[in-house]
Amino acid sequence: IPVPPFTLVIFGATGDLAQRKLLPALFHRDLAGQLPDEGSIIGTSRRDLSDEEFQAFARKAIADHVPSHELEDEALGRFLNRLSYVSTDAGSDRGWDKLGERLSGEGGPIRVFYLATGPDLFGPICQRIGSHGFVDEHTRVVVEKPIGKDLESARAVNDAVGKVFPEESVYRIDHYLGKETVQNLMALRFANALFEPVWNAAHIDHVQITVAESLGLEGRAGYYDTAGAMRDMVQNHILQLLCLVAMEPPTSIAADSVRDEKLKVLKSLVPIDSTNAAALTVRGQYRAGASAGGAVPGYLEELGAPSSRTATFVALKAEIANWRWAGVPFYLRTGKRLASRVSEIVVTFRKIPHSMFGSDAGDIESNRLVIRLQPDEGVKLWLMIKDPGPGGMRLQHVPLDMTFAEAFKARNPDAYERLILDVVRGNQTLFMRRDEVEAAWTWVDPIIDAWRDTTEGPKPYTAGTWGPSAAIALIERDGRTWYEDGV
Ligand code: BG6
Repeated sequence: IPVPPFTLVIFGATGDLAQRKLLPALFHRDLAGQLPDEGSIIGTSRRDLSDEEFQAFARKAIADHVPSHELEDEALGRFLNRLSYVSTDAGSDRGWDKLGERLSGEGGPIRVFYLATGPDLFGPICQRIGSHGFVDEHTRVVVEKPIGKDLESARAVNDAVGKVFPEESVYRIDHYLGKETVQNLMALRFANALFEPVWNAAHIDHVQITVAESLGLEGRAGYYDTAGAMRDMVQNHILQLLCLVAMEPPTSIAADSVRDEKLKVLKSLVPIDSTNAAALTVRGQYRAGASAGGAVPGYLEELGAPSSRTATFVALKAEIANWRWAGVPFYLRTGKRLASRVSEIVVTFRKIPHSMFGSDAGDIESNRLVIRLQPDEGVKLWLMIKDPGPGGMRLQHVPLDMTFAEAFKARNPDAYERLILDVVRGNQTLFMRRDEVEAAWTWVDPIIDAWRDTTEGPKPYTAGTWGPSAAIALIERDGRTWYEDGV
């Protein structure tokens, strides 16, 4: 689908997100020939920079984040020519008239305001965008997570944005939805006849969703300590993955058709609160250990504080109270400084009702469908097969393995490449609607409240492990184990 002419204004243009993700993503799409000639990008932040200084800043950001073999000089020059810069202040009128002049002189009719700033600035920026008359029916706004820190503050953010932009112009980014394999989950479920008939409690024993990181705080201690794993990862990324696994088939790929179904899942989550949190949740916080081949400090040392009850690891047993999923546990876990960086969804089917093979054949394992989001994106379906050879009927658990890198031999685009272009094209399918975000907080808030109200803090775990042993106990109590590749 062609990308129409546009002007993209990035607020927070000299910040971390713009450097690491937005500018490299836009460059990649330009390199692929997808940006129209009339596509201009205006950077803005409080800093005073000339157009040339911002272009130099962008050149460095791209050089730092794009592999050198993809850095063609001519393409980079063409991309940098699209960039200009205006200094504005979210808290005063400084710079806004100048931004208005730039906007009226540039690009195409579609205007996108990308708020790559802290959430406290969303309201003031939107208010000024509105009061300066920058909004018409072709204007869109993109907001990044975190959208609030609980239901109440999320509502306040949504209200502030909603005063200026109607819901159909608001694009709430959850970058997990832009990941190739996450979209593939929809293809897998709804473009194949094979899975849907068995995608329910009658055939599925349980589902695991793991988003494990080996990184620590990466210089974001200030934000992270107020958020923790629950707000940083579960409220958004993990619940979105859960929705895509669990939702009913939408009638079409149209934004509201998909989002209506996701919302129903969020609303069907069985509440976890002070009455059951101890049995259904585990929190952890890393201590010094070893990660990525070297010694790493513990969370408190990285934070530079003597104490904190922020969880850097969370494991949960969630349930969805509806006809399709009643009784099927969804085990969710995420954490920083874990043994490796791996994100995957594992759907474990029920065991066969009866084995005709006798005990010599070995154990008959459950079929498992493993959707690996990163790294080594791919899909594996674990099946039982006969061990080759004349030695009798011995059975083995073996994966049908589709690794995308081998199957497609193409570069896997970063999530932001897809998502930014979707905004310009006006496609909201991969963005969170207001009611979804609020429904997710409605489920998350009582869990965080329950933790706050106990005397017990998060359990320590050594950096470079799979989290506290209580997380293993959480699933083993039910006679199940966390999936490990090859097991
Ligand atoms: C972000 C979180 O939303 O996602 C970070 O704020 C986390 O803490 C990141 O590291 C993980 O994203 P990815 O794409 O590297 O899995």
